[in-house]
Amino acid sequence: MAKARIAVVGAGLMGHGIAQAFAVAGHEVMVTDKMLASLASVPERILANLRELGDDESALDRVHPSHDFTACVRDAHFIVEAVPEDLPLKRMVFDEIERAARPDAILASNTSVIPITKIMGGLNDKSRALGTHWWNPPYLMPLVEVVGTRWTSPETIERTVALLGAAGKTPVHVRKDIPGFVGNRLQHALWREAVALVESGICDAETVDTVIKASFGLRLAVLGPLENADLVGTDQTLAIHQTVLPAIDSRAAASPYLEALVAAGKLGFKSGDGFRQWPAEAQAALRARLLQHLRAARTRHPSPASRGRDDPQ
Ligand SMILES: NC(=O)c1ccc[n+]([C@@H]2O[C@H](COP(=O)([O-])OP(=O)(O)OC[C@H]3O[C@@H](n4cnc5c(N)ncnc54)[C@H](O)[C@@H]3O)[C@@H](O)[C@H]2O)c1
Repeated sequence: MAKARIAVVGAGLMGHGIAQAFAVAGHEVMVTDKMLASLASVPERILANLRELGDDESALDRVHPSHDFTACVRDAHFIVEAVPEDLPLKRMVFDEIERAARPDAILASNTSVIPITKIMGGLNDKSRALGTHWWNPPYLMPLVEVVGTRWTSPETIERTVALLGAAGKTPVHVRKDIPGFVGNRLQHALWREAVALVESGICDAETVDTVIKASFGLRLAVLGPLENADLVGTDQTLAIHQTVLPAIDSRAAASPYLEALVAAGKLGFKSGDGFRQWPAEAQAALRARLLQHLRAARTRHPSPASRGRDDPQ
């Protein structure tokens, strides 16, 4: 798939960003969405992202929004679904995709946590279906988890890993189809304990975030936990686990504290308060800080697709 035809179904936060990432890598990308307003705003959202990053704006010429679902998917070599995280909806969308797609097209879901087996179980040809879990924003976050099911052919995995790697992403193959894959299991194991610390009055939410950002969070981008365990010694790690793990939250359910926030309408940025207060200026400052950080990370470690754009040499 040197230069492939890509189709993206669902042009929301993730879909438009995935379309952008493939277009920047030189692929022609069709995009469709059931909501006309979402589809109509794809070019302006991608243009704004490209401008913000100083990327080549001609990538937008390779993005083709279409209201016609069949026209969007029928010629594509690789089809990514990015509709909301709702299993019946995703199954219905893949049913439609399978009927319209070429027989050799790869069908990929961008689900965050739903097992791919559940999403693809109704397809006639399951050998060409898999998960590609991108991270937000997809044009800046390198990782894509490639998740096969017991039906997915090795060739489908190989072609997908090659396509994503050539597009400058960091694809990893997740060998078993489990809820949350690898990234979200790790991320939400940490979030569970973060919520529990606040819930049990040990510290406030701001302190949790400060502790992480001013300590191991700073190292995480260059030192994974298992590298760190080897660095300090597996014997040290064992001793720490023997003391700490029995005290860490291990409830197999969402926290009642989190449920109470949601029930009270404290939805975070959406409502202006959640674990903390979020006036508009604080929201804007946090978004700007995140973008600046991710952009600086890309400049330090340019992908093949972005090399030559924001690299001075
Ligand atoms: N937001 C994140 O940070 C993130 C990260 C990784 C993965 N994901 C996953 O990506 C998927 C999409 O998430 P999002 O945040 O982009 O959601 P979103 O709500 O921003 O976008 C979903 C889009 O799908 C469209 N849509 C709904 N039904 C459709 C249909 N039948 N056909 C075509 N389009 C349809 C909606 O109109 C909307 O534009 C979800 O599965 C989510 O869990 C999200």
